[in-house]
Amino acid sequence: MPEPTVKLTPEQISFYKEQGYLSLGPLSTPDELAMMRNAYDRIFSTRAGRDTGDQFDLGGDDQEGKEAVLPQILNPDKYAPEFKDTLLAANVRQIAKQLLGDHANGGGAHAIMKPAFHGATTPWHQDGSYWSATHDNNGISIWVPLQDVTVANGCMQFVPGSHKLDIQPHHSINHDPKVHGLEIDFTDEVNEMIGKAVACPLPAGGATIHAGRMFHYAGPNTTDQPRRAYILSYATPATLREKPRSMPWNELKQTARQQRAKNAQTAQAKADHLPGQ
Ligand code: NI
Repeated sequence: MPEPTVKLTPEQISFYKEQGYLSLGPLSTPDELAMMRNAYDRIFSTRAGRDTGDQFDLGGDDQEGKEAVLPQILNPDKYAPEFKDTLLAANVRQIAKQLLGDHANGGGAHAIMKPAFHGATTPWHQDGSYWSATHDNNGISIWVPLQDVTVANGCMQFVPGSHKLDIQPHHSINHDPKVHGLEIDFTDEVNEMIGKAVACPLPAGGATIHAGRMFHYAGPNTTDQPRRAYILSYATPATLREKPRSMPWNELKQTARQQRAKNAQTAQAKADHLPGQ
């Protein structure tokens, strides 16, 4: 992996701890970003990972033949070696360790694409609403656009200080358990906080960093170019909770993606002459 070139200042670290988010300038080079954009477009256009449940629609019910409103690929580096050993990854690793400590581990990556003149909102949520009910961890997401982003093509928006709250109740988008994506339940208190949101435009290869409980949102893409976001996660080792957190919205989910992943596992198990599930 290349040597990292970006280090956070003490002022940036204290801003992050107080506010729960941070905006940064480019963590990569124009050449590396061009290579990553090509790889990104290739894996979305070839529907990489569709059969194994790694590519799916975050915002719709994901039925075959239906255009995805919010296409997502988990672990894009499994399908595109261009995402491995980049300067971007080296810088993200250094920054994550500055914020979380040396024992922080990379927890994978995902890509959320919003096609030109298309793409739903990524509704208000806390990332922790997707995570484990039985374990706690101190996770962060580093959100990197592969082209410039503004409000017009879906840059990130945050509620400063909301990372200090616990996980709020969430529900599947459109209250449809077939949809993977989650949205926070809108109470008067939540609405008042969202009224204080700040938008974070970024240059290509810049980054926003947010804590696992930060309220965040990204609007639709109203421009004539795709909005490519690449998100890396880091976390400290998970610790077992005394009592599991109540997260009924995850237990209700019945997504097409889960079914495809299950079918792929069953097919693999048959190929390996192992009992299916
Ligand atoms: Ni999120």
